[in-house]
Amino acid sequence: MSEHYVFPVPASALENTHCTKEQYDALYEQSVTDPEGFWKDQASRIDWMKPFTKVKNTSFTGDISIKWFEDGTLNASANCIDRHLPERANDTAIIWEGDDPADSKHITYGELYEQVCRFANVLKGRGAKKGDRVTIYMPMIPEAVYAMLACARIGAVHSVVFGGFSPDALAGRILDCKSTLVITADEGLRGSKKVPLKANVDAALERCPDVSSVVVVKRTGGDVKWAEGRDVWYHDAAADVSADCPPEEMSAEDPLFILYTSGSTGTPKGVLHTTGGYMVWTSMTHEYVFDYKRGEIYWCTADVGWVTGHSYIVYGPLANGATTLVFEGIPTYPDAGRFWQVCEKHKVNIFYTAPTAIRALERLGDDFVTQHDRSSIRLLGTVGEPINPEAWLWYHKVVGEERCPIVDTWWQTETGGVMIAPLPGAIDLKPGSATKPMFGVKPALVDQDGKFLEGATSGNLVITDSWPGQMRTVYGDHERFKLTYFSTYKGLYFTGDGCRRDEDGYYWITGRVDDVINVSGHRMGTAEVESALVEHDLVAEAAVVGFPHDIKGQGIYAYVTLFEGIQPSEELRKDLVKLVRQEIGPIATPDFIQFAPGLPKTRSGKIMRRILRKIAENEFGNLGDTSTLADPGVVDDLIENRQNK
Ligand code: WTA
Repeated sequence: MSEHYVFPVPASALENTHCTKEQYDALYEQSVTDPEGFWKDQASRIDWMKPFTKVKNTSFTGDISIKWFEDGTLNASANCIDRHLPERANDTAIIWEGDDPADSKHITYGELYEQVCRFANVLKGRGAKKGDRVTIYMPMIPEAVYAMLACARIGAVHSVVFGGFSPDALAGRILDCKSTLVITADEGLRGSKKVPLKANVDAALERCPDVSSVVVVKRTGGDVKWAEGRDVWYHDAAADVSADCPPEEMSAEDPLFILYTSGSTGTPKGVLHTTGGYMVWTSMTHEYVFDYKRGEIYWCTADVGWVTGHSYIVYGPLANGATTLVFEGIPTYPDAGRFWQVCEKHKVNIFYTAPTAIRALERLGDDFVTQHDRSSIRLLGTVGEPINPEAWLWYHKVVGEERCPIVDTWWQTETGGVMIAPLPGAIDLKPGSATKPMFGVKPALVDQDGKFLEGATSGNLVITDSWPGQMRTVYGDHERFKLTYFSTYKGLYFTGDGCRRDEDGYYWITGRVDDVINVSGHRMGTAEVESALVEHDLVAEAAVVGFPHDIKGQGIYAYVTLFEGIQPSEELRKDLVKLVRQEIGPIATPDFIQFAPGLPKTRSGKIMRRILRKIAENEFGNLGDTSTLADPGVVDDLIENRQNK
C-alpha cells in the first residue's frame, strides 16, 4: 500500500461541516501566527467564572513553565453539565451500554447534574476538599463518570487507575500521589467475567496506610470484605445528601487530574493536567476532529482508565453537550458482532476505537459486521497506535461501507488531546497517515542531533511550541518532566515517536523510538516489565523488548537470565508470567520468555537491545555489528533458543 492511495473528502462529509479545507488552512495559519488571538477566540467555547486577561505564558527552555489563561477561573464540571441545563436538560448526556446486551440506560444532562452533585456531596462528607487527590478504580459504569466530574466539581484532583491493573500497580499509584480516598466498585463485569475490584483495593491498601476512606459502588452485588469505618457503600452515603453542590471556583492552572503513564525508564509517571487549557483543548478537538453536531450519538470505546477515556468519553464530549456512549463490555461478548450490534441499537453516528480492536475483529470475518445495520454511522476514528493500511481499508470498506471518513488521531497522554488528525470535511485521507496538525500544533522532525529536517523525510517527532492541552508537569517531580520531554532536544517537546513526512506534508507516525512498547494500544515501559521479572528470587537479570504482533501491534518478549546453577523449567516460566500479571496486570503478560545464560552486552556493560529486538523479531540474519560485544558467543545461544520461530 503506498501513500499515493488517496481518499478525497466525500461530499457527505462536507454537509454542515465545521471546517472545510479553506477554513482549515485559514484557521491553522492564524493559530500559529497569532496564537494569542486564536486562543482568545477558542477559549470562549468555555464558560469562565472570571474571565482571563492573559492567554499564553509558556516556555520550553529553562525551568519549563506552561500556563494558559492563567488569571481566569472556571469549573470543569460546570462546563460539562450546568451550562447545558437551560437548553439541554432533557438531552441525553450518557448512553450506558452494559456488559449484558439487555442492560442499558440513558442519562440526561438534568440527571447527570443531580448524580454528580450527589457524588460530590458524598466525597465532601468523607472529608475530600479542593486540591486533595482522589483515586478512582472503577468499571465502565456511569458512576465512574459521576466520580470524575464530582472530583472536578469540588476541586479535588482525580487519578483514575485502569481497572485491569493489579493491586500492586494500584498501590504504587495511590502512594505516589498520596491519595487518602479511593472510589471503587464491588466487582466489575467484562465479557460476563467478574473483576474483583474491591478485593484488589483491599490488597493494595495493605501498602497504603494513609487511605482513610473507600467509597464502594455496588455493581454486581458480589461478596466483599468490609473494613468498618474505612469503607462505605456509595448508595448508603448518597441516600441523605443534597442533590445540589455548587461548583468550586478553580484557577485555570489548578490541577484537574493526574493520570499515570509509562515511560522508557522507572516507574509510571503522574501526568498532570490543569483545568482551563485542557477544557478548551478537549472541547475544541472533539468538535473539529469528529465534526460533532448537536444530537449526534458519539461512541469512543476506550476505558476511562486511559487518557482517551478522559478526553473523549468524558471532558470533550460533555463540554460540547454531546451524547457520549459508555460501554462496559468487550468487543467479543456475547460475540464478535457486539460493537456493531451496539451501533445499530443506539444509532451511533460517530465511532472511535483502537487499531488493535479493528485487526482482531477483521480476523473473525465480515459476517459479524454486516449482519448489523450500520447506516447511522457517518464517521470512524482510530487512536492509540499506528494503523496498518490493510486494517484501515477493511475498516473503511466493511465497517464504513466506503461512506465514512476515518480520522486517524495521533496524540498522547501528555498532549491532553488530539494533535495530528484529518478533519473530516477538510483533509483528504491516506490510509495509515494521521495527516495534518491540529490548530496550534507545530510539529517538526529532527535528526539524532536535533537538527531540523525539512521536506519529505523521516525523523524524530517534536513539537516546537506549547498548546493549551499540554501536560504541565510530572506530579511531584518537575525535574523528571524536564528531563523526559525537554532534555533530548533543547527547547523542543520530544514525543518519543518516530515519524515520516511525505511530499504533501502528511505525517506518518512510525512508532516509539524509545524503550516504550505499545501493546494493543496500551503503553508499557520495558523497564517496568523487567523490574517485575527480577522480583523473582531466581532471576538475575531480565531484558524486555517489543516485537511486531499481527493483532496487538507489538508483543512482549522477555529474555531472562537465572542465577548460576538454576535450571530453567516450564514451571518457572509460568511463575514468571504470573509474577508480571501480579505486579502490573494482565495487559503486561509476556508473549515469550526466553531463558538466556547471558545477555549481549557492550564492554561497558550496556545491554545491546538492538540485537535482542532482532532476535525477538526472528530477524537474526542481519544483526549488524556485534564486534563490540563483551562476549559475542552469547548471541549464538540466543538465536538457537529463540522462541518466536
Ligand atoms: C501511539 C494514547 C500512531 C504513539 C492517546 C504515542 C499512535 C502513544 C497514534 C501514546 C496514532 C497514539 N498513530 N501512533 N494515531 N495514537 N499513538 O499516551 O506511539 O496511551 O506516543 O495516548 O501511542 O499513547 P498514550
